[in-house]
Amino acid sequence: MIHLIYISSATSWPSEDDLKQLLAQSRARNLKLNITGMLLYDNATYMQVLEGREKDVHDIYNSILKDPRNTGNVVLVEEEISQRDFQNWSMGFKILKSCSSEELPGFQDAFNGKLDKELAVKNTSKALALLMGFAKHV
Ligand SMILES: Cc1cc2nc3c(=O)[nH]c(=O)nc-3n(C[C@H](O)[C@H](O)[C@H](O)COP(=O)(O)O)c2cc1C
Repeated sequence: MIHLIYISSATSWPSEDDLKQLLAQSRARNLKLNITGMLLYDNATYMQVLEGREKDVHDIYNSILKDPRNTGNVVLVEEEISQRDFQNWSMGFKILKSCSSEELPGFQDAFNGKLDKELAVKNTSKALALLMGFAKHV
C-alpha cells in the first residue's frame, strides 16, 4: 500500500456545487477501489492524500492529472505505508475557510491564512502536517 500526496491549482473558481459534484464522483470510484484519503480546498488550490494499493492510487492520480478542473500538479510525497491514516473515509473533504483555528494549528504562520502551492512546495513538512492533522478529526 502507498500514499500519494499532491497539490494542484484549480483552473477556475469552483462553486460549492462544483465541489460537491467532484466529491460525489470521487467517493463512488474510491469506494470501488478501496481508496481512502482527504481532499482540502482553499484559494483555488487543492491538496489531497490518496491511500490504497499502488496500482489503484496511480490509476486515480493519472485520472486527476488529466482532469481539466486542475492543473500544475506537484507530488509532495509518495511512499509505502503499513496502515491508513484515513481508513474510514472514501474521501474526507474540508474547505479550509470554514475551519476553526484550533483545527489548523500552524496554518496562519506557515501559509498566511491561505493554502498556497508555492509555499506548500517549499514547506512540504508544514503542508503535510496540515493535511495529516485532519486524520485525528475524521
Ligand atoms: C482535485 C481533484 C481531486 C480528485 N480526486 C479524485 C479521487 O479521489 N477519486 C476519484 O475517483 N476521482 C477524483 N477526481 C476526479 C478524477 O479526475 C476523474 O474525473 C474521475 O476519477 C473519473 O475518471 P475517469 O473519467 O478517468 O473514469 C478528482 C479530480 C480533481 C480535480
